Amino acid sequence: MNLIKSKQRVADHGEVFTPPWLVEKMLDLVKGETERIDSRFLEPACGSGNFLVPILQRKLAAVEFKFGKSDFEKRHHALLGLMCCYGIELLADNIAECRANMLEVFADYLALDAEDDVYRAASHVLSLNLVHGDAMTMRAIDDAPIRVVEWGYLGKGKFQRRDFRLDVLTGMASFSAEDSLFSALGKHEIFTPSQTYPPMSVRYLAAANDGTGTSA
Ligand SMILES: C[S@@+](CC[C@H](N)C(=O)[O-])C[C@H]1O[C@@H](n2cnc3c(N)ncnc32)[C@H](O)[C@@H]1O
Repeated sequence: MNLIKSKQRVADHGEVFTPPWLVEKMLDLVKGETERIDSRFLEPACGSGNFLVPILQRKLAAVEFKFGKSDFEKRHHALLGLMCCYGIELLADNIAECRANMLEVFADYLALDAEDDVYRAASHVLSLNLVHGDAMTMRAIDDAPIRVVEWGYLGKGKFQRRDFRLDVLTGMASFSAEDSLFSALGKHEIFTPSQTYPPMSVRYLAAANDGTGTSA
């Protein structure tokens, strides 16, 4: 496996990929979390998904174990697992590869074709969760603040969506440290969403997929 694409990219962006054996060792340090369907992972320099893809595979193994017997539950919990994977990547080709790699693993697991509503919903989710942007400035490529979409499964085929700003979430995390001057700030100020949506179905999410791989 090639761990670099070019010397220039290493020099410009520090682009050296982590080998799979090391990824697995690192994920084993938080094994329980990687095997929980709704644990959330954010990789702020995700490349083409060397960490996110195996995280998704572990979540899908958990889906199979818990919900393998019911097609409805399997499809919805697999989508929830995908919804809990987040990445940020500066380079356009890497983020496109990352979305494609994640979608391929997801579609293979559920044996989906590209016309399936679950496939199109997953594509929409990936366009939101895998952000083309700069993790240092916390701005997307269009210079808008990076948005973190929080997904939840309400049951009976309905998902909940709330949007937050990454800079607010991460800034507030340091405010809440015990010895911080700001520790008195209420938690409600940290977790106030910038937008809240009504419950949505897979069909609704599929219809929101514009096929470009990117979402506003
Ligand atoms: C060392 S590679 C690691 C990729 C992957 N995480 C892995 O372990 O295989 C670093 C990646 O971070 C990206 N990158 C560099 N600076 C970044 C930034 N400020 N924001 C987001 N991504 C960045 C690079 O384009 C590259 O894909």
